[in-house]
Amino acid sequence: MTPDGTTTLPTADLPASPQATRSPATSPAADSAFLRACRREPVPHTPVWFMRQAGRALPEYRRLREGNQMLDACATPELVTEITLQPVRRYGVDAAIFFSDIVVPLKAVGVDLDIVPGVGPVVAQPFRTAADLDRLPALTPEHVPYITEAVGDLVRELGATPLIGFAGAPFTLASYLVEGGPSKNHAATKALMYGDPELWSALLDRLATITQAFLRVQIDAGASAVQLFDSWVGALPAADYRELVQPHSARVLAAVADVPRIHFGVGTGELLHDMGKAGADVVGVDWRVPLGDAVRRIGPGKAVQGNLDPTLVFAPPEVVARKVRETLREGQAAEAHVFNLGHGVLPDTDPDALLRVVELVHAGLGTDSGEGPGAEHG
Ligand code: CP3
Repeated sequence: MTPDGTTTLPTADLPASPQATRSPATSPAADSAFLRACRREPVPHTPVWFMRQAGRALPEYRRLREGNQMLDACATPELVTEITLQPVRRYGVDAAIFFSDIVVPLKAVGVDLDIVPGVGPVVAQPFRTAADLDRLPALTPEHVPYITEAVGDLVRELGATPLIGFAGAPFTLASYLVEGGPSKNHAATKALMYGDPELWSALLDRLATITQAFLRVQIDAGASAVQLFDSWVGALPAADYRELVQPHSARVLAAVADVPRIHFGVGTGELLHDMGKAGADVVGVDWRVPLGDAVRRIGPGKAVQGNLDPTLVFAPPEVVARKVRETLREGQAAEAHVFNLGHGVLPDTDPDALLRVVELVHAGLGTDSGEGPGAEHG
Protein backbone atom coordinates (compact mmCIF):
# COMPACT_ATOMS: atom_id res chain seq x y z
CA MET A 1 0.00 0.00 0.00
CA THR A 2 1.14 3.54 -0.75
CA PRO A 3 0.66 6.39 1.77
CA ASP A 4 -2.60 7.40 0.07
CA GLY A 5 -3.95 3.89 0.52
CA THR A 6 -3.75 2.67 -3.06
CA THR A 7 -2.11 -0.61 -3.86
CA THR A 8 1.11 -0.47 -5.83
CA LEU A 9 1.13 -2.73 -8.84
CA PRO A 10 3.80 -5.42 -8.57
CA THR A 11 5.40 -4.19 -11.79
CA ALA A 12 5.81 -0.60 -10.60
CA ASP A 13 9.51 -0.98 -9.86
CA LEU A 14 10.34 -2.51 -13.21
CA PRO A 15 11.76 -0.24 -15.91
CA ALA A 16 8.84 1.17 -17.87
CA SER A 17 8.46 -0.53 -21.23
CA PRO A 18 6.59 1.26 -24.02
CA GLN A 19 3.89 -1.36 -23.49
CA ALA A 20 3.54 -0.49 -19.81
CA THR A 21 3.46 3.27 -20.38
CA ARG A 22 1.06 3.18 -23.30
CA SER A 23 -1.13 0.21 -22.59
CA PRO A 24 -4.50 0.45 -24.38
CA ALA A 25 -6.34 1.14 -21.12
CA THR A 26 -4.23 4.21 -20.26
CA SER A 27 -3.69 5.70 -23.72
CA PRO A 28 -5.55 8.95 -24.49
CA ALA A 29 -7.18 7.07 -27.39
CA ALA A 30 -8.70 4.38 -25.14
CA ASP A 31 -12.10 6.06 -25.05
CA SER A 32 -12.22 6.92 -28.76
CA ALA A 33 -15.29 5.96 -30.81
CA PHE A 34 -13.13 3.59 -32.87
CA LEU A 35 -11.76 1.59 -29.94
CA ARG A 36 -15.15 1.62 -28.20
CA ALA A 37 -16.73 0.12 -31.33
CA CYS A 38 -13.98 -2.51 -31.55
CA ARG A 39 -14.85 -3.47 -27.95
CA ARG A 40 -18.58 -3.42 -28.85
CA GLU A 41 -19.30 -0.60 -26.40
CA PRO A 42 -21.79 2.25 -27.06
CA VAL A 43 -20.40 5.01 -29.31
CA PRO A 44 -21.19 8.73 -29.72
CA HIS A 45 -21.11 8.24 -33.52
CA THR A 46 -20.19 5.44 -35.92
CA PRO A 47 -16.41 5.59 -36.29
CA VAL A 48 -14.97 5.70 -39.81
CA TRP A 49 -11.54 5.26 -41.39
CA PHE A 50 -10.48 4.07 -44.84
CA MET A 51 -8.16 1.29 -45.88
CA ARG A 52 -5.37 2.96 -47.90
CA GLN A 53 -6.49 6.38 -46.64
CA ALA A 54 -2.85 7.46 -46.95
CA GLY A 55 -1.59 7.31 -50.50
CA ARG A 56 -1.92 8.44 -54.06
CA ALA A 57 -5.40 9.96 -53.79
CA LEU A 58 -3.82 12.77 -51.74
CA PRO A 59 -1.81 15.47 -53.56
CA GLU A 60 0.15 16.12 -50.35
CA TYR A 61 1.18 12.42 -50.39
CA ARG A 62 2.29 12.54 -54.01
CA ARG A 63 4.39 15.63 -53.27
CA LEU A 64 6.07 14.00 -50.29
CA ARG A 65 6.77 10.75 -52.15
CA GLU A 66 8.43 12.50 -55.13
CA GLY A 67 11.90 11.05 -55.57
CA ASN A 68 11.45 8.42 -52.81
CA GLN A 69 11.09 4.70 -53.41
CA MET A 70 8.11 3.19 -51.56
CA LEU A 71 10.23 0.86 -49.39
CA ASP A 72 12.70 3.66 -48.56
CA ALA A 73 9.77 5.85 -47.52
CA CYS A 74 8.51 3.03 -45.25
CA ALA A 75 11.93 2.97 -43.50
CA THR A 76 12.08 6.76 -42.92
CA PRO A 77 10.21 7.68 -39.70
CA GLU A 78 9.71 11.37 -40.63
CA LEU A 79 8.02 10.39 -43.90
CA VAL A 80 5.98 7.59 -42.31
CA THR A 81 4.76 9.93 -39.58
CA GLU A 82 3.80 12.74 -41.95
CA ILE A 83 2.11 10.41 -44.48
CA THR A 84 0.13 8.66 -41.74
CA LEU A 85 -1.08 12.01 -40.36
CA GLN A 86 -2.13 13.48 -43.73
CA PRO A 87 -5.50 11.70 -44.05
CA VAL A 88 -6.28 12.27 -40.35
CA ARG A 89 -5.90 16.03 -40.85
CA ARG A 90 -7.75 16.15 -44.14
CA TYR A 91 -10.66 13.83 -43.43
CA GLY A 92 -11.03 13.85 -39.64
CA VAL A 93 -11.21 10.06 -39.65
CA ASP A 94 -11.57 8.26 -36.32
CA ALA A 95 -8.34 6.27 -36.65
CA ALA A 96 -4.96 6.49 -38.32
CA ILE A 97 -3.45 3.47 -40.05
CA PHE A 98 0.30 3.14 -39.88
CA PHE A 99 1.92 3.87 -43.24
CA SER A 100 3.94 0.84 -44.28
CA ASP A 101 3.35 -2.23 -46.45
CA ILE A 102 2.67 -5.91 -45.86
CA VAL A 103 6.02 -6.83 -47.43
CA VAL A 104 8.09 -4.54 -45.15
CA PRO A 105 8.76 -7.29 -42.55
CA LEU A 106 9.86 -9.71 -45.30
CA LYS A 107 12.27 -7.13 -46.68
CA ALA A 108 13.47 -6.46 -43.12
CA VAL A 109 14.48 -10.12 -42.54
CA GLY A 110 16.38 -10.13 -45.83
CA VAL A 111 14.01 -11.23 -48.60
CA ASP A 112 15.10 -9.58 -51.87
CA LEU A 113 11.96 -7.77 -53.02
CA ASP A 114 10.75 -4.42 -54.26
CA ILE A 115 7.45 -2.57 -54.61
CA VAL A 116 7.11 -1.66 -58.26
CA PRO A 117 4.89 1.37 -58.94
CA GLY A 118 1.62 0.38 -60.58
CA VAL A 119 2.40 -3.34 -60.06
CA GLY A 120 2.93 -4.08 -56.37
CA PRO A 121 5.43 -6.29 -54.52
CA VAL A 122 7.86 -8.22 -56.74
CA VAL A 123 10.08 -10.93 -55.21
CA ALA A 124 13.46 -11.58 -56.88
CA GLN A 125 13.63 -15.31 -56.11
CA PRO A 126 10.18 -16.87 -55.63
CA PHE A 127 9.72 -19.45 -52.85
CA ARG A 128 9.98 -22.97 -54.26
CA THR A 129 11.54 -25.59 -51.95
CA ALA A 130 12.24 -26.39 -48.30
CA ALA A 131 15.69 -24.78 -48.69
CA ASP A 132 13.89 -21.44 -49.22
CA LEU A 133 12.63 -21.60 -45.60
CA ASP A 134 16.13 -20.54 -44.55
CA ARG A 135 15.45 -17.17 -46.21
CA LEU A 136 12.64 -16.54 -43.70
CA PRO A 137 14.26 -16.17 -40.27
CA ALA A 138 12.33 -14.83 -37.27
CA LEU A 139 11.90 -11.04 -37.11
CA THR A 140 13.23 -9.18 -34.07
CA PRO A 141 12.68 -5.51 -33.11
CA GLU A 142 16.30 -4.89 -34.19
CA HIS A 143 15.29 -5.62 -37.78
CA VAL A 144 12.80 -2.72 -37.74
CA PRO A 145 14.02 0.12 -35.45
CA TYR A 146 12.38 2.62 -37.83
CA ILE A 147 8.98 1.06 -37.11
CA THR A 148 9.39 1.44 -33.35
CA GLU A 149 10.51 5.05 -33.83
CA ALA A 150 7.73 6.00 -36.26
CA VAL A 151 4.95 4.40 -34.19
CA GLY A 152 6.22 6.10 -31.02
CA ASP A 153 6.35 9.52 -32.74
CA LEU A 154 2.91 9.00 -34.24
CA VAL A 155 1.21 7.98 -31.03
CA ARG A 156 2.51 11.14 -29.37
CA GLU A 157 1.31 13.30 -32.31
CA LEU A 158 -2.06 11.59 -32.60
CA GLY A 159 -3.12 12.04 -28.97
CA ALA A 160 -6.72 10.86 -28.69
CA THR A 161 -6.84 9.45 -32.25
CA PRO A 162 -6.00 5.74 -32.18
CA LEU A 163 -3.29 4.26 -34.41
CA ILE A 164 -4.00 0.97 -36.16
CA GLY A 165 -0.97 -1.23 -36.74
CA PHE A 166 -1.16 -3.86 -39.46
CA ALA A 167 0.45 -6.82 -41.15
CA GLY A 168 -0.22 -9.22 -44.00
CA ALA A 169 -1.67 -12.61 -43.03
CA PRO A 170 0.36 -15.77 -43.80
CA PHE A 171 -1.69 -16.79 -46.88
CA THR A 172 -1.47 -13.39 -48.59
CA LEU A 173 2.25 -13.05 -47.85
CA ALA A 174 2.81 -16.61 -49.13
CA SER A 175 1.03 -15.71 -52.35
CA TYR A 176 3.51 -12.89 -53.08
CA LEU A 177 6.48 -15.09 -52.13
CA VAL A 178 5.43 -18.12 -54.15
CA GLU A 179 4.12 -16.27 -57.22
CA GLY A 180 7.00 -13.77 -57.12
CA GLY A 181 4.52 -10.92 -57.50
CA PRO A 182 0.83 -10.06 -57.76
CA SER A 183 -1.35 -12.84 -59.15
CA LYS A 184 -4.90 -13.21 -60.38
CA ASN A 185 -5.35 -16.96 -59.89
CA HIS A 186 -2.71 -17.78 -57.26
CA ALA A 187 -1.95 -20.92 -59.29
CA ALA A 188 1.61 -21.55 -58.02
CA THR A 189 0.49 -20.80 -54.46
CA LYS A 190 -2.37 -23.29 -54.63
CA ALA A 191 -0.18 -25.88 -56.38
CA LEU A 192 2.19 -25.74 -53.40
CA MET A 193 -0.64 -25.70 -50.86
CA TYR A 194 -2.43 -28.73 -52.31
CA GLY A 195 0.67 -30.52 -53.67
CA ASP A 196 3.00 -30.30 -50.68
CA PRO A 197 0.91 -29.58 -47.57
CA GLU A 198 3.92 -30.22 -45.32
CA LEU A 199 6.09 -27.58 -46.97
CA TRP A 200 3.05 -25.26 -47.14
CA SER A 201 2.51 -25.61 -43.42
CA ALA A 202 6.21 -24.95 -42.74
CA LEU A 203 6.05 -21.82 -44.94
CA LEU A 204 2.91 -20.46 -43.27
CA ASP A 205 4.40 -21.22 -39.88
CA ARG A 206 7.48 -19.10 -40.71
CA LEU A 207 5.29 -16.29 -42.02
CA ALA A 208 3.05 -16.41 -38.95
CA THR A 209 6.14 -16.03 -36.75
CA ILE A 210 7.33 -13.00 -38.74
CA THR A 211 3.86 -11.43 -38.84
CA GLN A 212 3.19 -11.82 -35.16
CA ALA A 213 6.57 -10.27 -34.29
CA PHE A 214 5.91 -7.37 -36.69
CA LEU A 215 2.55 -6.68 -35.02
CA ARG A 216 4.13 -6.99 -31.57
CA VAL A 217 6.71 -4.30 -32.42
CA GLN A 218 3.88 -1.94 -33.43
CA ILE A 219 1.80 -2.69 -30.31
CA ASP A 220 4.76 -2.34 -27.97
CA ALA A 221 5.50 1.06 -29.52
CA GLY A 222 1.90 2.19 -28.90
CA ALA A 223 -0.45 1.02 -31.67
CA SER A 224 -3.86 0.56 -30.04
CA ALA A 225 -5.43 -1.90 -32.51
CA VAL A 226 -4.20 -4.09 -35.36
CA GLN A 227 -5.57 -5.19 -38.70
CA LEU A 228 -4.45 -8.48 -40.21
CA PHE A 229 -4.89 -8.22 -44.00
CA ASP A 230 -5.58 -11.54 -45.70
CA SER A 231 -6.41 -9.71 -48.91
CA TRP A 232 -6.32 -12.67 -51.30
CA VAL A 233 -7.62 -15.53 -49.13
CA GLY A 234 -11.06 -15.23 -50.80
CA ALA A 235 -9.52 -17.43 -53.52
CA LEU A 236 -10.07 -20.47 -51.24
CA PRO A 237 -13.13 -22.58 -50.38
CA ALA A 238 -14.04 -22.56 -46.68
CA ALA A 239 -12.99 -26.16 -45.94
CA ASP A 240 -9.50 -25.61 -47.34
CA TYR A 241 -9.25 -22.27 -45.56
CA ARG A 242 -10.08 -23.97 -42.26
CA GLU A 243 -7.57 -26.77 -42.75
CA LEU A 244 -4.64 -25.05 -44.47
CA VAL A 245 -4.74 -21.38 -43.50
CA GLN A 246 -6.88 -20.59 -40.47
CA PRO A 247 -4.62 -22.27 -37.84
CA HIS A 248 -1.71 -20.03 -38.88
CA SER A 249 -3.79 -16.84 -38.89
CA ALA A 250 -5.26 -17.90 -35.54
CA ARG A 251 -1.79 -18.21 -34.04
CA VAL A 252 -0.96 -14.65 -35.14
CA LEU A 253 -4.21 -13.23 -33.79
CA ALA A 254 -3.89 -15.08 -30.46
CA ALA A 255 -0.43 -13.55 -29.97
CA VAL A 256 -1.81 -9.98 -30.10
CA ALA A 257 -4.94 -10.41 -28.00
CA ASP A 258 -4.00 -7.44 -25.80
CA VAL A 259 -5.42 -5.04 -28.43
CA PRO A 260 -8.54 -5.18 -30.65
CA ARG A 261 -7.87 -7.28 -33.77
CA ILE A 262 -9.49 -6.62 -37.16
CA HIS A 263 -9.29 -9.36 -39.80
CA PHE A 264 -10.06 -8.52 -43.43
CA GLY A 265 -9.92 -10.05 -46.88
CA VAL A 266 -11.44 -9.40 -50.30
CA GLY A 267 -14.09 -11.73 -51.73
CA THR A 268 -14.41 -13.52 -48.40
CA GLY A 269 -18.20 -13.82 -48.29
CA GLU A 270 -17.93 -17.59 -47.88
CA LEU A 271 -15.19 -17.28 -45.22
CA LEU A 272 -16.58 -14.61 -42.92
CA HIS A 273 -17.61 -17.01 -40.17
CA ASP A 274 -14.28 -18.82 -40.18
CA MET A 275 -12.28 -15.59 -40.32
CA GLY A 276 -14.10 -14.45 -37.19
CA LYS A 277 -13.33 -17.82 -35.60
CA ALA A 278 -9.63 -17.23 -36.36
CA GLY A 279 -9.74 -14.86 -33.39
CA ALA A 280 -10.77 -11.45 -34.72
CA ASP A 281 -12.68 -8.96 -32.58
CA VAL A 282 -13.77 -7.12 -35.73
CA VAL A 283 -14.41 -8.82 -39.08
CA GLY A 284 -13.82 -6.69 -42.17
CA VAL A 285 -16.33 -7.19 -44.99
CA ASP A 286 -15.89 -6.26 -48.66
CA TRP A 287 -18.66 -4.59 -50.68
CA ARG A 288 -20.10 -7.84 -52.11
CA VAL A 289 -22.00 -8.90 -48.98
CA PRO A 290 -24.53 -6.53 -47.36
CA LEU A 291 -23.52 -5.98 -43.72
CA GLY A 292 -26.78 -7.46 -42.42
CA ASP A 293 -26.02 -10.75 -44.21
CA ALA A 294 -22.39 -10.56 -43.08
CA VAL A 295 -23.49 -10.22 -39.45
CA ARG A 296 -25.62 -13.38 -39.74
CA ARG A 297 -22.72 -15.28 -41.31
CA ILE A 298 -20.17 -14.09 -38.75
CA GLY A 299 -22.38 -14.80 -35.73
CA PRO A 300 -22.51 -13.10 -32.32
CA GLY A 301 -19.66 -11.62 -30.31
CA LYS A 302 -17.97 -9.67 -33.12
CA ALA A 303 -17.97 -6.14 -34.46
CA VAL A 304 -18.03 -5.63 -38.25
CA GLN A 305 -16.09 -3.21 -40.44
CA GLY A 306 -16.98 -2.01 -43.90
CA ASN A 307 -18.17 -1.90 -46.57
CA LEU A 308 -18.88 0.90 -49.08
CA ASP A 309 -17.68 -0.07 -52.56
CA PRO A 310 -14.51 1.99 -53.16
CA THR A 311 -15.71 2.74 -56.70
CA LEU A 312 -18.92 4.27 -55.37
CA VAL A 313 -17.24 7.52 -54.41
CA PHE A 314 -16.92 8.18 -58.17
CA ALA A 315 -20.75 8.33 -58.37
CA PRO A 316 -22.75 11.59 -57.99
CA PRO A 317 -22.87 12.93 -54.40
CA GLU A 318 -26.55 12.07 -53.88
CA VAL A 319 -25.85 8.44 -54.78
CA VAL A 320 -22.89 8.34 -52.39
CA ALA A 321 -25.07 9.83 -49.66
CA ARG A 322 -27.78 7.21 -50.22
CA LYS A 323 -25.26 4.36 -50.18
CA VAL A 324 -23.54 5.65 -47.04
CA ARG A 325 -26.89 5.74 -45.24
CA GLU A 326 -27.74 2.28 -46.58
CA THR A 327 -24.43 0.99 -45.20
CA LEU A 328 -25.11 2.65 -41.83
CA ARG A 329 -28.56 1.05 -41.72
CA GLU A 330 -27.15 -2.37 -42.58
CA GLY A 331 -24.48 -1.83 -39.92
CA GLN A 332 -27.19 -1.49 -37.27
CA ALA A 333 -27.61 -5.28 -37.48
CA ALA A 334 -24.16 -5.62 -35.89
CA GLU A 335 -23.26 -5.43 -32.21
CA ALA A 336 -20.89 -2.67 -33.35
CA HIS A 337 -19.98 -1.15 -36.71
CA VAL A 338 -16.78 0.51 -37.88
CA PHE A 339 -17.47 2.26 -41.19
CA ASN A 340 -14.90 1.69 -43.93
CA LEU A 341 -14.71 1.00 -47.63
CA GLY A 342 -15.00 -2.60 -48.81
CA HIS A 343 -11.36 -2.41 -49.94
CA GLY A 344 -8.68 0.28 -50.26
CA VAL A 345 -9.11 3.82 -51.56
CA LEU A 346 -8.47 3.83 -55.33
CA PRO A 347 -5.65 6.16 -56.45
CA ASP A 348 -7.95 8.32 -58.65
CA THR A 349 -10.41 9.00 -55.83
CA ASP A 350 -11.40 12.64 -55.23
CA PRO A 351 -10.38 13.38 -51.63
CA ASP A 352 -13.41 15.66 -51.27
CA ALA A 353 -15.70 12.70 -51.93
CA LEU A 354 -14.09 10.85 -49.00
CA LEU A 355 -14.42 13.95 -46.82
CA ARG A 356 -18.16 13.96 -47.56
CA VAL A 357 -18.37 10.28 -46.62
CA VAL A 358 -16.78 11.03 -43.23
CA GLU A 359 -19.24 13.91 -42.66
CA LEU A 360 -22.20 11.71 -43.60
CA VAL A 361 -21.08 8.87 -41.35
CA HIS A 362 -20.56 11.23 -38.43
CA ALA A 363 -23.97 12.83 -39.03
CA GLY A 364 -25.45 9.33 -38.73
CA LEU A 365 -29.04 8.33 -39.38
CA GLY A 366 -30.49 10.48 -36.63
CA THR A 367 -33.85 9.21 -35.53
CA ASP A 368 -34.40 7.93 -39.03
CA SER A 369 -34.04 4.23 -39.60
CA GLY A 370 -36.16 3.97 -42.72
CA GLU A 371 -35.36 5.45 -46.11
CA GLY A 372 -33.79 8.56 -44.60
CA PRO A 373 -33.25 12.10 -45.87
CA GLY A 374 -31.30 10.64 -48.81
CA ALA A 375 -34.60 9.43 -50.26
CA GLU A 376 -35.83 13.01 -50.63
CA HIS A 377 -32.81 13.96 -52.70
CA GLY A 378 -31.89 10.73 -54.38
O1 CP3 B 1 -4.01 1.87 -45.63
C1 CP3 B 1 -3.09 2.71 -45.52
O2 CP3 B 1 -3.26 3.93 -45.75
C2 CP3 B 1 -1.74 2.26 -44.99
C3 CP3 B 1 -0.82 1.90 -45.96
C4 CP3 B 1 -0.82 0.56 -46.65
C5 CP3 B 1 -0.05 0.37 -47.82
N1 CP3 B 1 -0.09 -0.95 -48.16
C6 CP3 B 1 0.69 1.44 -48.51
C7 CP3 B 1 0.96 1.27 -49.95
C8 CP3 B 1 -1.38 -0.68 -46.34
C9 CP3 B 1 -2.33 -1.04 -45.19
C10 CP3 B 1 -0.90 -1.62 -47.28
C11 CP3 B 1 -1.20 -3.05 -47.23
C12 CP3 B 1 -1.04 -3.85 -48.45
N2 CP3 B 1 -0.02 -3.84 -49.36
C13 CP3 B 1 -1.93 -4.89 -48.82
C14 CP3 B 1 -3.15 -5.27 -48.02
C15 CP3 B 1 -4.22 -4.29 -48.26
C16 CP3 B 1 -4.99 -4.50 -49.51
O3 CP3 B 1 -4.98 -3.57 -50.33
O4 CP3 B 1 -5.59 -5.56 -49.67
C17 CP3 B 1 -1.45 -5.46 -49.99
C18 CP3 B 1 -2.10 -6.58 -50.75
C19 CP3 B 1 -0.24 -4.80 -50.33
C20 CP3 B 1 0.67 -5.07 -51.47
C21 CP3 B 1 0.81 -3.85 -52.31
N3 CP3 B 1 1.66 -2.83 -52.00
C22 CP3 B 1 0.07 -3.47 -53.46
C23 CP3 B 1 -0.96 -4.32 -54.14
C24 CP3 B 1 0.50 -2.18 -53.83
C25 CP3 B 1 -0.04 -1.29 -54.93
C26 CP3 B 1 0.83 -1.28 -56.14
C27 CP3 B 1 0.51 -0.07 -57.00
O5 CP3 B 1 1.43 0.75 -57.24
O6 CP3 B 1 -0.65 0.05 -57.45
C28 CP3 B 1 1.49 -1.80 -52.90
C29 CP3 B 1 2.21 -0.51 -52.88
C30 CP3 B 1 1.65 0.44 -51.91
N4 CP3 B 1 1.46 0.17 -50.57
C31 CP3 B 1 1.27 1.78 -52.16
C32 CP3 B 1 0.85 2.32 -50.93
C33 CP3 B 1 0.39 3.73 -50.65
C34 CP3 B 1 1.37 2.50 -53.48
C35 CP3 B 1 2.82 2.86 -53.72
C36 CP3 B 1 3.03 4.30 -54.09
O7 CP3 B 1 2.36 5.22 -53.60
O8 CP3 B 1 3.96 4.52 -54.89
